[in-house]
Amino acid sequence: MQTRVLTGITTTGTPHLGNYVGAIRPAVAASRRADVDAFYFMADYHALIKSDDPARIERSRLEIAATWLAAGLDPQRVTFYRQSDIPEIPELTWFLTCVTAKGLLNRAHAYKAAVDRNAEAGEDADAGVTAGLYMYPVLMAADILAFNAHKVPVGRDQIQHIEMARDIAQRFNHTYGREFFVLPDVVIEEQVATLPGLDGRKMSKSYDNTIPLFAGGAKQLREAILRIVTDSRAPGEPKDPDGSALFTLYQAFAGADETAAFRQALLDGIGWGEAKQRLFERIEADVAPMRERYEALIARPADIEDILRAGAKKARATATPLLATLREAVGLRSMANLAAPARSTAPAASKDKPPRFASFRDEDGRFRFRLFAGDGEELLLSAPFADPKAAGVLQKRLRTLGGAAAELVPGERNASLRLDGEEVATTPDHADAATRDAALARLREALDRLAAQD
Ligand code: TRP
Repeated sequence: MQTRVLTGITTTGTPHLGNYVGAIRPAVAASRRADVDAFYFMADYHALIKSDDPARIERSRLEIAATWLAAGLDPQRVTFYRQSDIPEIPELTWFLTCVTAKGLLNRAHAYKAAVDRNAEAGEDADAGVTAGLYMYPVLMAADILAFNAHKVPVGRDQIQHIEMARDIAQRFNHTYGREFFVLPDVVIEEQVATLPGLDGRKMSKSYDNTIPLFAGGAKQLREAILRIVTDSRAPGEPKDPDGSALFTLYQAFAGADETAAFRQALLDGIGWGEAKQRLFERIEADVAPMRERYEALIARPADIEDILRAGAKKARATATPLLATLREAVGLRSMANLAAPARSTAPAASKDKPPRFASFRDEDGRFRFRLFAGDGEELLLSAPFADPKAAGVLQKRLRTLGGAAAELVPGERNASLRLDGEEVATTPDHADAATRDAALARLREALDRLAAQD
């Protein structure tokens, strides 16, 4: 069986060497494996969260598409598309939004960082925070779940987002009672090098220390490499390869033998100027043929458009049927198929169904369960337990308790169930005391029915 591997590329900015070595090159290599069914897409809806500059969005989408194709991505083999060409993604985003706890999103790192910055600046907590930033993890979950991806390779900063996608998928599965979604696994490529930038820190747009991949051609690549910070050792003095950004960059492109030779040259005291020239030549050997393809592609944007549209068609062949199933599942169904007299038979049928328990884990990983009446009405929600056995013991006791013995303590709009003086479960909130009391009567009935079964 093939593993479906999916990843998104946010289309802001211009690709640099760090993007190539850290993401593009390994993803293209993975896509060539026979056991991989790769879905790679441009996360251009996510880009709108980061940038409101239309020209930049347009340019970046084109450059990034051309970069991936130039780097060897085969669109026949890989499903390569734009997020914004898949209407099922925003549709699924809404379904997921409706089962996602707001509290989960409050804990997202990117959102929390924005709130912390505001606090430091003495601003309102949500100043400058759009709902788009807040919803970022849900959109990302939809990207993944719309295709039921098994594996999602991402950078470390994205791990939390994949965990949230799993959480949201689980919630949806639980709410609608079936395994609609595969729970995706995060993949962190440990062997992939993180490249140092011009100043030795991690190469990143936010540090303004990047070396462009194609932009500016060989000339700018060379100029950037000449600007890499080195120590002040003179030609002839031995250099420390392991403390040098030059060496790390060289190693990311060269094979083992070449790397060993470069290491020796540094130890033997090669001058930094000459070392930089060798580094430039090594990188240029890999980049030049790709740059040539890149220039050819970017000169024909209409061809790229065709490739991406074909990719979207392929992607939708998976997403469209899944969304049709989900629409059914949540109750957005055609009325044409509805048999008219459902009303007279349905309640009778559901009256015959026994009450049932449904166990789950809450956001904090604790064990809980609900008690539902035969017709699906929620009657009780248990307290959270750290130990699943404790939750099981409580369920057992409720099965044999019986309605008359249940100690139900009315609160303002709900009621709590006590055992040995301790609150162990609560009812949902009701509109007023009368509806609550009617619900309590149904709860006692359900407890009687459970006790009669056992
Ligand atoms: N948020 C990811 C990033 O910034 C990009 C992305 C969007 C993504 N949707 C995704 C990655 C789905 C993996 C799966 O890197």
